[in-house]
Amino acid sequence: MRWCKSTKVIFVVLFSTAIFTVTIHKVPYGHFKDLVNNSMVERFLHGEPCACMERCLAASDDMWFAEHFKKDVPPVLSLNNSAFPDHIFKWWQSLQSRSKANYSQVITELFSVIPGEEWYRDDGPSRCRTCAVVGNSGNLLGSYYGPIIDNHDFVFRMNKAPVEGYEKDVGSRTTHRIMYPESATHLDNNTHLVLLPFKTLDIQWVTSALTDGSIKRTRFKVIDKLQANKDKVMVMHPAFMHYVHNTWLHIKSRRSYPSTGFLVLIFALHICDEVSVFGFGSNSKGTWHHYFEKTPKSFKRTGKHSGGIEHETILELQERKLIDLYTGW
Ligand SMILES: *[C@@H]1O[C@H](CO)[C@@H](O)[C@H](O)[C@H]1NC(C)=O
Ligand SMILES: *[C@@H]1O[C@H](CO)[C@@H](O)[C@H](O)[C@H]1NC(C)=O
Ligand SMILES: *[C@@H]1O[C@H](CO)[C@@H](O)[C@H](O)[C@H]1NC(C)=O
Repeated sequence: MRWCKSTKVIFVVLFSTAIFTVTIHKVPYGHFKDLVNNSMVERFLHGEPCACMERCLAASDDMWFAEHFKKDVPPVLSLNNSAFPDHIFKWWQSLQSRSKANYSQVITELFSVIPGEEWYRDDGPSRCRTCAVVGNSGNLLGSYYGPIIDNHDFVFRMNKAPVEGYEKDVGSRTTHRIMYPESATHLDNNTHLVLLPFKTLDIQWVTSALTDGSIKRTRFKVIDKLQANKDKVMVMHPAFMHYVHNTWLHIKSRRSYPSTGFLVLIFALHICDEVSVFGFGSNSKGTWHHYFEKTPKSFKRTGKHSGGIEHETILELQERKLIDLYTGW
């Protein structure tokens, strides 16, 4: 947020002046070392990884986080990074019924329609990007989180999750909507579409849906002509999905893959400096349902998602103060 940086500069100046004054006059050397280990001072002495007050995710010194977070895995497909290792390609292909399409041709066609640039490789000392990941849980109802959610730079929503009529609880802004062909919905001109490609055909679909609309079915009938701003469309990198599957969830089974919500959460960790998470998990009565379902049914997770590990990982991230988890109502 805009005020962060100047406030922080003042704070750092005051804080460091205070430390050095104290150090020189009163504190013995051992204590000085403790102070220097403080990450705030570390940042001051070694240059700052980002401009946020609270945290800079990519620069976290948490050991558990460092074991999971691989900064170099590209979150989004680009012209330059679309080739990836064989074993990952095999994994990705195993999620789908075998595709006869020529992947490199599919990619060439994709980037003749959407931008092929590297998105969001702009982290550094002058950036403080705050992000809200908004899941679809019924625990949002009655939460009054709307204004808190809207106060983030990026607001991520998933699939068809509506905003209209739920603004006070879920907010009104959407900067990114993450979806796959079977869950797609039309977007306004300012919203980024982030496609989750579970199969080659999904990439072919987005190319088609933004142009001639020739693909009308994937697993079933889908939107053939999508309203969306072509210049704001991106495709999550299949290698990123593999990394979430392998490194974050340690999933052994080939046929299971991460949920959309979890993929988006890790995506946010990679492109944002601070991440707040809303609308994940059950409500206070232990019921799982979508906030936009009129009559909440008990919501059963599908066998393909690994809800248990995902939930534990989110709690771990919260415990280690790497995200702010809003548990709702
Ligand atoms: C896929 O298409 C590219 C050209 O875009 C071609 O060079 C390559 O040989 C093709 N691969 C296969 C397996 O057909
Ligand atoms: C791709 O990489 C080359 C060199 O690594 C670079 O010069 C070029 O700008 C990159 N293209 C895009 C679209 O990012
Ligand atoms: C949407 O935005 C693009 C630029 O990204 C612009 O060229 C186009 O005219 C806009 N369309 C509408 C309907 O506002």
